[in-house]
Amino acid sequence: MPFDFDRIIDRRGTGSEKWERYAGRDVLPMWVADMDFASPPCVLEAMHRRVDHGVFGYTLPVRSTVEAIVAHLAEHYQWAVDPSWIVFTPGVNRGMNLVCRAIGERGEAVVVPSPVYPPFFSAVTNSQRRLIEVPLARRAGERWEFDFVALADRTPPDARLLLLCHPHNPVSRAWSHAELARLANFCRERDLWICSDEIHAGLVLDGRKHIPTATLSPEIAARTITLMAPSKTFNLPGLGLAFAIVQDAEVRKRLLGARRGLVPPDLSPLAYAATEAAFRHGEPWRRELVAYLEHNRDHLTAFLAAETPELKLAPVEATYLAWIDTTALGQPEPAKFFEQYGLGLNNGADFGAPGFVRLNFGCPRATLEEGLLRLRTAVHAARASKR
Ligand SMILES: Cc1ncc(COP(=O)(O)O)c(C=O)c1O
Repeated sequence: MPFDFDRIIDRRGTGSEKWERYAGRDVLPMWVADMDFASPPCVLEAMHRRVDHGVFGYTLPVRSTVEAIVAHLAEHYQWAVDPSWIVFTPGVNRGMNLVCRAIGERGEAVVVPSPVYPPFFSAVTNSQRRLIEVPLARRAGERWEFDFVALADRTPPDARLLLLCHPHNPVSRAWSHAELARLANFCRERDLWICSDEIHAGLVLDGRKHIPTATLSPEIAARTITLMAPSKTFNLPGLGLAFAIVQDAEVRKRLLGARRGLVPPDLSPLAYAATEAAFRHGEPWRRELVAYLEHNRDHLTAFLAAETPELKLAPVEATYLAWIDTTALGQPEPAKFFEQYGLGLNNGADFGAPGFVRLNFGCPRATLEEGLLRLRTAVHAARASKR
């Protein structure tokens, strides 16, 4: 059965963070990272079945959900995970904050290649660790890469942890085996733990394969904490279910200790039901989603090249997020500028890169079309004001 990604669903009035920001204004929201698609039918059916049960008590990790996660990791990534390594958290951000508290001591350094999804920065500072930002390198008009010279130069001796976004939000890279291996090797040499945020793992485009950092080698697995969730791929972020995969028993203990009293051990029973269905039965839907996103990405890329060539877009290899360099427009606050023309984007400065905006193309094609028309109007206005 083909799935209908073209259907426009009115999300206004549902408390949607994405849509509420511009309530009552004619601004099309293409910012925060959730999609405007309904979740897969198999997930909705599983949630209905769980609702029909009628009792929603405090819920421990559901055994069949854990089994579905383990099977999913084995099937998609040839990764043999012991169920005891899985620690559930209410969201990946919460998980990353816990990891920052579990590794090292107050005042010690945490390395963060940037630009990156802003909560990476706050996870470090919330945990009273020292944030060491190391810029990714950008080859002119090409893709973003790790800057190994900068990493070597800027990583201080007291660094204990590196936060990796893989695939990367916002630069949309699906890191290759060679890049990952080199980064992991650097972490091994410097005795750094790796926290690998792989929330976008299911959204790798063009037939590339996601390689979990922990699958590089047993040695790397032993120093890696992986964060995953069904939330980006199956559009379930509001259900707040994520999990850490932690092979090291001592770190697992510290993670559970950091959680105590602050982060509830129980998650929503509906979230467990949804996760299980997504991982067991969601693959046909995921494949169609990826094809739809590739199409949106291609359309966006062609549109920018033809209509607004001053906007530079690096190749989008994964995610539904486009990272756009607007510096040629000469606008000091580009996201605010686009908002004036009815388009709500993320502001690059929040990610550590002023002059950039992030556009979310996880939406029906008609919505994307409307967004691109608004984008073009804004760029024409910027051109006119420069003359
Ligand atoms: C890389 C990355 N990590 C974490 C999150 C947030 O995850 P959660 O909602 O599970 O905290 C996002 C959401 O955009 C993300 O892109």
